[in-house]
Amino acid sequence: VKILVLNGPNLNRLGVREPAVYGKKTLKDLEEDLCQFSKNEKVQFSFFQSNHEGDVIDAIHDAEERFDGIILNPGAFTHYSYAIRDAISSVSIPVVEVHISNVHNRESFRHHSVTAPATIGQIVGFGFYGYQLAAQALIHHIRGNEG
Ligand code: DQA
Repeated sequence: VKILVLNGPNLNRLGVREPAVYGKKTLKDLEEDLCQFSKNEKVQFSFFQSNHEGDVIDAIHDAEERFDGIILNPGAFTHYSYAIRDAISSVSIPVVEVHISNVHNRESFRHHSVTAPATIGQIVGFGFYGYQLAAQALIHHIRGNEG
């Protein structure tokens, strides 16, 4: 199973950005954790991060041919990017949305996701571990044994 891990704006700042909310580990640590996880699962991850909405959209489009699914943390685009939502809807591969923080106990503008309705599901509030949970859910979905 080939999965694209796509992180949106400001996630390149993990480790230095609001550590009380997002922790002290970096995006590289996050990617290394997933590589470690992939050794036990038959999964191959590719990683991409961008601060630009159009690049995130292009990455979603391009993933359709190359990957079986996407783990997407759209960052703040989550809350207002109909263009990213439409990009998710435009591809046939499944997308799982992840948020590191528990967006529901933060500012009210973070409570709503415009992108989640186009995904197969959302994982929120479990820190970096949420990406592993998302990978498990995606693998389960792709293998067609979602019960
Ligand atoms: C985030 C939550 C968003 O509200 C925020 O804008 C981010 C990170 C998270 O992973 O918790 O950039 O997506």
